[in-house]
Amino acid sequence: MTDHSPNRLSPTPDGPFHAQGDIRVVTDDGDTVFEGNDTWLCRCGHSATKPFCDGSHERVGFADPGTLGKTPRPMEQPADGPLIITLRPNGPLRMSGPYTLAAPDGTTCDVADKGSLCRCGLSHTKPMCDGAHKESDFEG
Ligand code: FES
Repeated sequence: MTDHSPNRLSPTPDGPFHAQGDIRVVTDDGDTVFEGNDTWLCRCGHSATKPFCDGSHERVGFADPGTLGKTPRPMEQPADGPLIITLRPNGPLRMSGPYTLAAPDGTTCDVADKGSLCRCGLSHTKPMCDGAHKESDFEG
């Protein structure tokens, strides 16, 4: 039995987020850039095909173990429904809908309608955003 949401977002070691489930990625204006069950989203900030990973994390030597540090407060009950990932202009991935944040070490956190995840690569609280993009020239 699993209490986890079928939507899963996994920060991979030194690489992108792996998003699986009922996933929709939209711009801040509401335009859909991805709708499907499986995609890889850049979290190093250097992809030429943002929001998607193009392998640039290897070229730039992006280093992050993908472990969960400061995570959103867990949701009280598992829920179904799509996970909408909104691309904040020059900022983080804003999560809306149920999902399980799953680290490579097996740690998980079930979340609903919360969370801003770093995609500039500079946050000190990865995988969460800490606002570091504001002090950088990150564009995406
Ligand atoms: S994480 Fe792969 S290009 Fe950024």
